Amino acid sequence: MTVRESRSAAEVTPFLVMEILERAQELERAGVDIVHLEVGEPDFDCPPCVQAAAQAAISAGRTHYTHSLGTLALREEIARYYDRRYGVVVSPARIVVTTGSSGGLTLLMALLLEAGDEILLPDPGYACYPNFVRAFHGVPVFFPLDRSAGFRYDIGTVRRAATVRTRAVMVNSPANPTAAIQSRETLAALAGLGIPVISDEIYHGLEYGEPAATLLAITDSGFVLDGFSKRYAITGWRIGWLVAPEPLVPVLQCLQQNLFICAGSVAQEAALAALRAGDEAVEAMRQEYDRRRGSLLAGLRALGFGLPVEPAGAYYVLADARHLDADSRRLAHRLLEEAHVGVAPGVDFGALAEGHLRFSFASAPGRIELGMGRLSEWLLRQ
Ligand SMILES: Cc1ncc(COP(=O)(O)O)c(C=O)c1O
Repeated sequence: MTVRESRSAAEVTPFLVMEILERAQELERAGVDIVHLEVGEPDFDCPPCVQAAAQAAISAGRTHYTHSLGTLALREEIARYYDRRYGVVVSPARIVVTTGSSGGLTLLMALLLEAGDEILLPDPGYACYPNFVRAFHGVPVFFPLDRSAGFRYDIGTVRRAATVRTRAVMVNSPANPTAAIQSRETLAALAGLGIPVISDEIYHGLEYGEPAATLLAITDSGFVLDGFSKRYAITGWRIGWLVAPEPLVPVLQCLQQNLFICAGSVAQEAALAALRAGDEAVEAMRQEYDRRRGSLLAGLRALGFGLPVEPAGAYYVLADARHLDADSRRLAHRLLEEAHVGVAPGVDFGALAEGHLRFSFASAPGRIELGMGRLSEWLLRQ
């Protein structure tokens, strides 16, 4: 019997950051110490209030399926969060609790795409976006972000990329990998294009200057993805949410019932505690990231990397490494094997990030310094 994969499955490309991470883990098993600057993974433990809520949920037996949309308590708390943080009224009836924002993205692609439909995506942008589109038989269409314009979205460029098959345009602010924030005016202009906007707000709360605007303050007819992974350092708990126009919630609910049944019950209890009592912990982590951002930027500058834009949010620096090698995948592998520093190859994030490396400052300060030291020695050997 021959098992043949579908064309859409075959089109999904590897997540190169994971390729670096997996090779790094192999080297670690052989006893090599690796500085991990490749993954978007906070090194913090999850806040004690979140841990306690998860433990209490398990002890109390709240370990069963929940309502497919998520517990009402959590959806109401998410609605209160929008009011508290942004002064925006969002009905809990528009909120679907998901298995990470990745779960929300899965539901959205299933909702929006028929074979051959297009989603407009930023280049550079999050490596997994195009593969979500491909997995659901869609076609990713990229619009360029200009590094000299601070990776700001140019509305004319987005408009020109749209066709009759366009089903949505993606905005990610603060962004992975550029760490750029799009202004409220840019979000409003995108919403004015007449194309549904999907706003991935997973890095909200991790800003180092002006906070990012939410799409929900601008329009009720877009989609917002958000979650707990990054802000609360609980990437492994797989818990997030999606806000959608209310008339579409029944379809999303139906998809969720079938594809996931519901998000994890213990993670939902933990998420509730995170929203109720986690603000201080998030702020402390944000301040610490800000310090790490400063030391990583200083280190990379001293090493001669070009820094097109200083990170305004998230925990990434996209550094220009074309003077070392135009092939970022080859360079990332060399840095791992020869300097024992893991970095993400820019090409993972689109053709326009080729020649760049993404450094994460989610790692502990001592490890960032050690990584810079190793890179400095490696550069002297070239
Ligand atoms: C821009 C962006 N969106 C979504 C995700 C997925 O996050 P989650 O853990 O909520 O699925 C990531 C993870 O790195 C990301 O960088």
